[in-house]
Amino acid sequence: MSDPAGELHEIAFILNGETVSAAVSARMHLGDFIREVMGKTGTHIGCEHGVCGACNVTIDGRSVRSCLMLAVQADGTHVETIEGLTQSGIIADLQQEFVARNALQCGYCTPGILATAAEMLNGPSLSRENIREALSGNFCRCTGYHAIVDAIEAVMARRVEAAS
Ligand code: FES
Ligand code: FES
Repeated sequence: MSDPAGELHEIAFILNGETVSAAVSARMHLGDFIREVMGKTGTHIGCEHGVCGACNVTIDGRSVRSCLMLAVQADGTHVETIEGLTQSGIIADLQQEFVARNALQCGYCTPGILATAAEMLNGPSLSRENIREALSGNFCRCTGYHAIVDAIEAVMARRVEAAS
């Protein structure tokens, strides 16, 4: 029986607006590929088993745990890391709100939380309770969450007002 870990697979996808391609092991996680092969170290690895949300990136606009996804599964998708989300300016208002409200301390959780929030801000307006629910897969060991929820809620309200 062949060892799938020994085989390399050609993949290509859009990473932060640019096409990337590589030959990867079937067992390489997307998070490791992003950090170790692509050098995008803004994606943080915490628990490595889908619990903490630190590794979240967006894939085709949805927030995804990059430690639970294989790099080969990203083939043909659009992946945004915190570097891409920042460079595009798409969450610049949210990032400013995080700073203004001290919604981060050590910052380890922040890229994953911003990826989750980016998906939230693309959808319908949410109540504070629903924002908390949507954030329940992202752990923060510093802030106590209130300022994070405050920041997302404020930006969501401003965007809704601007669109009306
Ligand atoms: S490192 Fe992926 S969920 Fe914790
Ligand atoms: S700011 Fe430190 S874990 Fe969230």
